[in-house]
This record gives sequence, C-alpha cells and structure tokens, in this order.
Amino acid sequence: MSDVEIQKTTQRDRFAGSLREDQVGQEVRLTGWVHRRRDLGGLYFVDLRDRGGLVQVSFGPEWCDAEVLECAGTLGAEDVVAVRGEVFLRPEANPDLPSGAVEVRAVELEILQDSTTPAIPVYRGPEEELPSEELRLRHRVLDLRRPELQENLLLRHRLVLEVRRRMDALGFMEVETPILTKPTPEGARDFLVPSRVHPGEFFALPQSPQIYKQILMAAGFDRYFQIARCFRDEDLRADRQPEFTQVDVEASFVEPDDILGWTEDLMVGLAEVAGVDAPQPFPRMSHEAAMARFGSDRPDLRWDLEIQDWTETLGDADSNIIQGALQKGGVLRGLLLKDGASLSRKQIEGVEQAAKDKGAPGLLWAKRTDDGASGPLSRFVEERHLDGMGMEVGDLVMLAAGAPRDIAWPLGAARDAAITALDLPMERESAWLWVVDFPLFDEDSEGGGLTPSHHPFVMPFVEDLHLLEEDPLAMRSKAYDLVYNGSELGGGSIRMHDAEMQTAVLRRLGLGDQEIEVKFGFLLEALRSGAPPHGGIALGMDRIVKEFAGAASLRDVIAFPKTTAARALFEGAPTPVKDDDLSELHLSVTEKGRE
Ligand code: AMO
Repeated sequence: MSDVEIQKTTQRDRFAGSLREDQVGQEVRLTGWVHRRRDLGGLYFVDLRDRGGLVQVSFGPEWCDAEVLECAGTLGAEDVVAVRGEVFLRPEANPDLPSGAVEVRAVELEILQDSTTPAIPVYRGPEEELPSEELRLRHRVLDLRRPELQENLLLRHRLVLEVRRRMDALGFMEVETPILTKPTPEGARDFLVPSRVHPGEFFALPQSPQIYKQILMAAGFDRYFQIARCFRDEDLRADRQPEFTQVDVEASFVEPDDILGWTEDLMVGLAEVAGVDAPQPFPRMSHEAAMARFGSDRPDLRWDLEIQDWTETLGDADSNIIQGALQKGGVLRGLLLKDGASLSRKQIEGVEQAAKDKGAPGLLWAKRTDDGASGPLSRFVEERHLDGMGMEVGDLVMLAAGAPRDIAWPLGAARDAAITALDLPMERESAWLWVVDFPLFDEDSEGGGLTPSHHPFVMPFVEDLHLLEEDPLAMRSKAYDLVYNGSELGGGSIRMHDAEMQTAVLRRLGLGDQEIEVKFGFLLEALRSGAPPHGGIALGMDRIVKEFAGAASLRDVIAFPKTTAARALFEGAPTPVKDDDLSELHLSVTEKGRE
C-alpha cells in the first residue's frame, strides 16, 4: 500500500501535511485540528494540523457558501474539523512548510468537536517560548500535539521496530519476563506491590529482568532479548526516570567480543534510522584509563581535552600541598587549558568549584604570562615546570594533588566545566566509546563495605580471583558500558555461571548464607542445574531516543513521563488510597505518611 492509501479512512483521504504541488486540481477531504486561524477582511486562513503535519485551508466568499464562511469565522484553536475542498497553488509559497506550495480552498466544513480554550497553546509564534515544563506535563494531551514531540515518539517507534527486526535477524528471541517479581539488585530501591492474598508479603517491580534472563540461558534459550519496562525508585536526574525501557539482551557461550560486536552493529543500524553518525569500530578504553585520562567512567569524547599526569614534572615543586600529597603516594594531575589565561578569576573559581563539588579540597592553578606566571600555583613553580607541563604564554593549568581514586572525579568535573567556560569547539559531533574492564566492586559510600560496581552477577577476571579476600577493590570484571557523547546508553557483562563463585561473591558483599538462599536461591538453583557460560547487555531505550532526537530531556521522548519529583502530573499519580482499600491489603499509613 502507498503512504496515501494507508492514510485514507472513511472520513478523510490523506494526511493534511502530505499535500504537494502534484495534487493541485484534486478534490480532497481532510480532518484534523485547527492549529491557528487568521482573518483577512472576509477571508479566513486556517492551518489544519494532523499527524502528517500542516496545510493551509482557506475560506473565502468566492468559493464558499455563506454558511461555510460563517462557520469558519467561529473556529477556535484546537477545534477538530473535517473539510472538503480543492487543492490550489498558493500565490506565495511558504518555504518553511513542506506543504507550503499549496492550499486547500474549502467548500465544506464540519466541526467534529469543539475544543475548550487550550490551557497551553499548541501553536507558537517563532519568537514565543515554550510554557514551563510543569504546565506542559500537567496538560500533556496538548503538549503531545506539538510536532516536536510527535516526531520524537515516531522516531522512538521506528527505533523499536529496528531493534526487533535486527535482533530477530541475529537469532534472538523475545521472551516476556514478569512484572510482579522478587527484588532484583541493580542498586536502586524497589517499588513494592502488596499481596492481598498473602498478608504482609510483597512483590517487587523489576529493576531489570537480569535474573530471569540468566535463568533463560540456563534453560537453553541461547539468545534472548526483550523490550523491557524497568522500575527503579531512585533519586531522579535529567537522565533518569522511575519507569523506563531497556533493550535487554542475553546470550550463551559468549565472550565480551560477541556482545560488543552485536551491540555495535545494532547501534549503527539504529543510528542510521535516526541519521546519526556511528563510525565503526567504536573505540574501547579500560575503566582505569577512562578515569585517569578523563575523570569519568562515561567520558564525553566529543572533546579531546585530556587530564595530564604531572607527578614527575612537578615532583620537586616547593609546595606543601604537592609534597604532602607525594609523600602519601599521591599523584599530580590536571588540565592544560590552551588560551585559558583569558578566563576571569570568577570563571576559574567556577571550574574549581565543579571539582570541589566532587570532593576535591581545591585546585592549584597558574596562568602563563609574558612575565612568568600568575595564580596560586605560580609561587611554587619555575619556568622549567611551566615548560614541562607544555604551557605557552596565554595558557592556564589547573591541577589536583592526591590519590588517583580521590582526584579522578573532581578532575573530570573540572574538565566539563572548563570546556563550558572556554566554549571549546567540539572535535566531533558523535563520540562513541566502550568503557571495559570495570572494577568488580566499589566502596559503599554509606556503609563503608563493598557494593557491586554493576550488579552482583558480574564475572570477575579469573586472574584477579585471588584478590577476593585481601584486595577486592583491585579486582577487575568482565563488565562494559556503552557511552555516547558522555551519556551511558547501556551496560552489561559476562556473568558468573558457577554457583560456588557466585556464592563467594555474594558472601564478600556481606550477605549471610540464609539471606543468599532467600534472595538468590532460585538463581543458584538454575546455575547448579547446568548453566552455560553467558553474558549480555541492556541498552537504555529512552536515553538512545533522547540522544538521537537531540531532545533536552528524557521526558521529551516518553509519552507520559514522571516529573523529577516522581509524579505523573497529567493523570495525577501517585494518590492517597482509602483506608478500606488499604486494610484489604493488610496495610496502614503512619501519621508521618499522612502529613
Ligand atoms: P544498568 O543498570 O546499567 O544495567 O541499566 C542499563 C541501561 O539502562 C538505562 N537506565 C535508565 N534509563 C532511564 N532511567 C533510569 N532510571 C535508568 N537506569 C538505567 C541506562 C543504562 O545504561 N541488568 C543490567 C544489564 C546487564 O547487565 O545486562 C542493567 O540493568 O542507559
């Protein structure tokens, strides 16, 4: 079927925005919303909008009955109408509109549904700003009529279709996993669902299908994928939603190269759909290198600016801060900012503040001038130090002294802030990167113990296994993340398929044997039943669409998103529940909860 045949219904012939010069002279029936109406001395021009775009419909005494003309004069924004008329060339084409060469001179008009005055405008003049996001989310039905959001959701649809097509072609099979389930540890809090029939017991909504997909491998499915909805009760940021969608993938008898290769091909296919550049192969960088060189586990490589190591160069500098850090085995690392001397003191303090916000006590900095150097670091360094750091007149250096682990994130934040402050031009528009060999564990910022760097099922490097007791933080793992322009689009790993190894790691994370049995007994049983070596990845669908659409927020690529305060404003959720309904679930709300 042609596009136009697909668009046809009993009430209309085609989408309004699909009309072009070829259709001049044809009679068409169109339906849609009144985007805006202009009155020009007895003539009415209506921009008629539907999913296909806009076209101008004109009403004038030369071709309309008086009744039709009168009705056109009553049209208000967002009324739903049906029109019949002939396609004409416009005396003056509108180059901003795909259908701008033509207009429809209407001879029939029917108002199918009056609209109340829109709470937020769908039509916006070129200079008009969007209403606040809160208002837009509150009136989502109107906001969703904006062509930008319609395009984002159409792109999302096309990307999801492409995922299914490509995964199927590679022999992956889509299997649905439960939504009412047991807690899955992905590092966030669970959304809990009380069981009515089992008083005091709860289901958890899945943070991811992680355990189920591993069980599917033990069950012999070999290659699984799912467009899976995940739920995490965590502090929200611009790149997080409590409810989001993953392209979840798992395969058996694989090494990281298999998963990375398939994922890369998939991403290249998706990028093509979206018109985004994705040159292969995607570069790979170890987690350790990413942290040392860019101060982030998801560095934005659209800019080449790298953190430099000046431990040797500045090793004899006569500064207490520097010597103190060196004595403790620390390093000196920082940024060489070409032409950075142009930054004001306030701007430099802004970059320093970014590092402080990530835990650095401060940054030492110096500008190189014609007369030597200026700035706090200048008192401790000589010309040869400046030369050693590669500084030329007009440059600025900013550095941190301390343990590599302590200064990496602060320097990464300073890198981002310096790029913004200097308005550095991008070296490339699309920067893809695999970050590989993540540590197996991180320090738990709250309890002082260990937390999994990804989740507790990740396969350690076999050669690091002996470190499990004495130095677990030094253990590397077969985990990888996919990074695009500084955004983590996906993460995965090879898993432990040996129940004994899995149990040892869970114990090292501080779980007792009984807790292990209650929480993960069903996974261990699957592993013991003969699990193949397996691994996989999950890609954040919302983030992929956001990046590819160039959207400002995840909320612009999700039809009905939550606010940063985890509320659904349009439908008004969450809501209090009546005591009767609660008692049926064997629950009650405390005084504090009612406040
Ligand atoms: P992970 O927790 O890294 O891995 O999630 C995979 C990807 O999902 C996206 N993502 C989110 N997107 C929007 N809002 C959120 N709150 C959110 N949280 C995560 C990110 C992320 O890279 N089971 C493992 C995968 C595996 O090991 O196979 C997992 O869920 O793009």
